[in-house]
Amino acid sequence: MSAGGADSDSTGLGRLAENGRMASANPAFDQLLKKGDLIESVSEMTPEYLRELKHTLVVSGDTELISAPAYYLAAQRAPSINAFMTAIAIIQDELAHAHIAYHILEELGEDQEKLIFSRDPKSFRYPYAFDVPLETWTELIVANLFYDQAGFCLLGDIHEKCSYGPWKRGLVKVMAEENFHLRNGRTWAKRMSQAGGATRDELQRAVDWMFPLTVEWFGLPDSMKMHSTQLDYRLKGLTNDQLRQWWLSLVVPYCEQIGVKVPAHKSETNEHYELDYPFPCTFDSQARRWDFKDPCSWDDVLLRWRGRGPRNQEMVATFQEEFHRFRKQHAS
Ligand SMILES: [Fe+2]
Ligand SMILES: [Fe+2]
Repeated sequence: MSAGGADSDSTGLGRLAENGRMASANPAFDQLLKKGDLIESVSEMTPEYLRELKHTLVVSGDTELISAPAYYLAAQRAPSINAFMTAIAIIQDELAHAHIAYHILEELGEDQEKLIFSRDPKSFRYPYAFDVPLETWTELIVANLFYDQAGFCLLGDIHEKCSYGPWKRGLVKVMAEENFHLRNGRTWAKRMSQAGGATRDELQRAVDWMFPLTVEWFGLPDSMKMHSTQLDYRLKGLTNDQLRQWWLSLVVPYCEQIGVKVPAHKSETNEHYELDYPFPCTFDSQARRWDFKDPCSWDDVLLRWRGRGPRNQEMVATFQEEFHRFRKQHAS
């Protein structure tokens, strides 16, 4: 999987309303951005641009990194060696994607080792969806189908519009691999749906809780956002709602085609996709169940995101604990 949309999103640290303006007092930099040129080095950036670029990269790196343990826990339930190998190949890709983001952060003056191994679990900035455990092979498949498709949209947008040259080029490899991940989700989901019976029921149950979680992934609706610095700086090109619509336009027709029910439909009056439930609404993370009869406020959602979900600490521990144990053992 992956992400990238950093502001007002489900990473737990989104900003409700951005009042900041593009505080650049550097006409040469403004000109560069306006012309659509790529920025290649820190010497060309304003401090505000550097800060926003780092924020976006941390969200991307953290999301890629955390998807590895999230997927690994479910990959162990793979139904065959071949299926397990595919899942491991995807996990390997995700770690490489994380490396690209953290490596660029290091070039921008951050300490990669500290970022990965010394941060508190709650300070990792990834979508809330990964904090809800993926427990079965079916759920891993739906993660490929929905989460990797979300990553494909978010990173595809950045890949196309990104003003920072090194990241734009790094995303060429990432996009090709995300495409493979979501194809794995599509192929398996189709097979499971066609199998019918209990297999199909299990697929539908996973879709029922994972679909609304991915709709949330794209963050606050545009009507609640006053301003996006990331759009100003061309660190993304589409708004939260535009990205959400893009995702819906890819996922809803495919699910309908393979006979999986999703709570959304295409509007009869325009090209938009509409949700068949109140957005946002209440989610029970322990039971992994949405209550479509209980709409909530975005403040409630932000509270849930910031509190992080059930698997946050466990997943961060999978890569931090062994690192520190090894360091301790070899300190003397
Ligand atoms: Fe992926
Ligand atoms: Fe990825």
